[in-house]
Amino acid sequence: MTTTPSPAFLCLIIITLLVLSPPHQSHPDTSAALSVRDFGAIGDGRHYDTAAIQSAIDACASRSRGRRRSTTITNGVAPSPCHVTFPRGDYLTATVHLKSGVVLDIGEGARVLGGTRMEDYPKESARWYVVVAENVGDVGITGGGVVDGQGMAFVERLEEKKNVMVSWNKTGDCTGDECRPRLVGFIGSTNVRVWNITLNQPAYWCLHIVRCVNTSIHDVSIYGDFNTPNNDGIDIEDSNNTVITRCHIDTGDDAICPKTYTGPLYNLTATNCWIRTKSAAIKLGSASLFDFKYLVFDNITIVDSHRGLGFQIRDGGNVSDIVFSNINISTRYYDPSWWGRAEPIYVTNCPRNSSSRVGSVSNLTFINITANSENGVFLSGTKRGLLTNLKFINMNLTYRRWTNYVGGLVDYRPGCQGLVNHSAAGIIMEHIEGFQVENVNMRWSSYQNEQWDNPLDFRPSTVDDISFLNFHSGYTTNERVTETAQESVI
Ligand SMILES: *[C@@H]1O[C@H](CO)[C@@H](O)[C@H](O)[C@H]1NC(C)=O
Ligand SMILES: *[C@@H]1O[C@H](CO)[C@@H](O)[C@H](O)[C@H]1NC(C)=O
Ligand SMILES: *[C@@H]1O[C@H](CO)[C@@H](O)[C@H](O)[C@H]1NC(C)=O
Ligand SMILES: *[C@@H]1O[C@H](CO)[C@@H](O)[C@H](O)[C@H]1NC(C)=O
Ligand SMILES: *[C@@H]1O[C@H](CO)[C@@H](O)[C@H](O)[C@H]1NC(C)=O
Ligand SMILES: *[C@@H]1O[C@H](CO)[C@@H](O)[C@H](O)[C@H]1NC(C)=O
Ligand SMILES: *[C@@H]1O[C@H](CO)[C@@H](O)[C@H](O)[C@H]1NC(C)=O
Ligand SMILES: *[C@@H]1O[C@H](CO)[C@@H](O)[C@H](O)[C@H]1NC(C)=O
Ligand SMILES: *[C@@H]1O[C@H](CO)[C@@H](O)[C@H](O)[C@H]1NC(C)=O
Ligand SMILES: *[C@@H]1O[C@H](CO)[C@@H](O)[C@H](O)[C@H]1NC(C)=O
Ligand SMILES: *[C@@H]1O[C@H](CO)[C@@H](O)[C@H](O)[C@H]1NC(C)=O
Ligand SMILES: *[C@@H]1O[C@H](CO)[C@@H](O)[C@H](O)[C@H]1NC(C)=O
Repeated sequence: MTTTPSPAFLCLIIITLLVLSPPHQSHPDTSAALSVRDFGAIGDGRHYDTAAIQSAIDACASRSRGRRRSTTITNGVAPSPCHVTFPRGDYLTATVHLKSGVVLDIGEGARVLGGTRMEDYPKESARWYVVVAENVGDVGITGGGVVDGQGMAFVERLEEKKNVMVSWNKTGDCTGDECRPRLVGFIGSTNVRVWNITLNQPAYWCLHIVRCVNTSIHDVSIYGDFNTPNNDGIDIEDSNNTVITRCHIDTGDDAICPKTYTGPLYNLTATNCWIRTKSAAIKLGSASLFDFKYLVFDNITIVDSHRGLGFQIRDGGNVSDIVFSNINISTRYYDPSWWGRAEPIYVTNCPRNSSSRVGSVSNLTFINITANSENGVFLSGTKRGLLTNLKFINMNLTYRRWTNYVGGLVDYRPGCQGLVNHSAAGIIMEHIEGFQVENVNMRWSSYQNEQWDNPLDFRPSTVDDISFLNFHSGYTTNERVTETAQESVI
């Protein structure tokens, strides 16, 4: 018997991919283009080019509006947007505002550098971005160049465990230790496209998609400092119909992170990506006040990360119909000041605090997954909110230790019970109803430097209706040879 996700679900995946797949060939470019140089930009990386860039954007936007009006009258076809081009050079800038019908075209050898002074950003911290688009349509960023947040300038003290960062919290508009500008933000916008661009060294989150509809992010590389906190890769918030493909993300904090604050998130697809992070490669939450539904993650390589596929559902949003397929994961321990304990898969929905609501998590499918990890899978519902209808199909889970960090801790953060002592296991399960395990191989390194000899850890009083079909647990083949060799030496 072969098992696959339900036909309806595969159908959804296909429809989503068809509707939103990015073009594979570029069409002849008939759009208008205005160079920031013609508006007075210097591009020496020292003088601020803010006014020149903003004037070019504004001029492009009015040109685009004119073209739209005339094209709509003649044939009803939306014209291609107006491009603001950046020739080779370093363009230092305060916040610039992207307008409807405008694409920032940052060419090869061009870098847009975010300012590092508080006065470079608007008063309201919600608008602290180097580039921000708000309530607009048909906008984008491309060109093969770089947008750089100069994140290292925000490091107060370099530390290998976790850098200590500057926080602009003196004015009271932002409080706490996370008051720094994000790099690129699209807020309340439609038809957003970010492609063929490198986003470097954000001081805080990197690419932020908020309350958007129809967003395509493809061929984007993101590099953040590995020791810097909160430099997330792509945060998708309260948005529908988002497609991410061919991304390369190497950063300290979460790489692809859907969240819900003010509304639900539907139809997110992320495919063909490569990720390394000291946090979670894919994380739903922890902000989770509304629902998450119809998310697909396919063909993703996760390397040396602290956590692979994660859910931290803390605020009452309900999660359902999520598929992870064809994913290779390697997870290892890092300093525990970072959330994560080397789990390849981590699903929790304990409420953040005693007044938070409990969200339900159901219909999760994990299929064709290979993991090499220093710790096991953690699946933990709560008494008031079970995890229901989970599937693990075609999985090779290999467990081996290669760093010297202590194991034997379960990580419920943020909130909940925090870090708890609990001996490691292949799969820890609590408060689950319906878990189907099929064609799953667990392979163990014969040498363990801690107590770790429990493939499946669950109590029938909290876990109901688990089935195993073709489940196998054993030593890794090559390690058994090694052990035999060692024994013969002894
Ligand atoms: C999600 O995608 C499906 C299939 O493409 C579509 O029918 C549905 O309207 C989308 N949902 C939202 C909220 O956009
Ligand atoms: C990316 O941008 C570079 C430089 O402008 C260009 O040569 C290349 O064709 C672009 N690639 C894609 C896939 O658009
Ligand atoms: C401001 O940020 C610093 C960390 O940079 C932190 O120690 C301090 O508590 C914060 N103050 C306020 C009022 O949030
Ligand atoms: C996304 O779709 C849901 C369901 O239709 C809707 O409630 C929500 O307002 C949509 N979000 C946006 C940003 O349009
Ligand atoms: C999003 O894209 C779909 C499919 O192309 C289209 O039907 C819908 O009108 C778009 N939504 C918005 C808000 O532009
Ligand atoms: C998977 O993604 C990689 C890029 O990470 C790509 O080269 C490969 O073609 C993709 N495979 C499939 C089957 O799409
Ligand atoms: C989650 O589902 C429960 C039960 O159906 C419902 O009461 C609750 O309102 C849902 N949560 C949200 C954020 O919609
Ligand atoms: C996963 O690893 C296998 C074996 O090395 C390889 O064939 C496959 O392409 C990899 N897939 C991804 C998504 O990295
Ligand atoms: C508890 O968390 C909820 C969100 O889940 C938040 O709205 C509320 O302010 C928090 N309460 C306290 C006391 O921190
Ligand atoms: C989960 O999937 C089943 C069908 O497999 C469906 O009946 C059920 O409504 C789904 N649950 C949710 C919460 O979407
Ligand atoms: C798991 O390993 C076996 C070989 O031991 C291989 O045939 C199978 O394709 C692997 N499955 C996945 C999902 O990588
Ligand atoms: C899982 O892998 C098998 C064998 O490589 C492949 O035939 C099947 O299409 C994959 N399933 C999914 C959902 O990608």
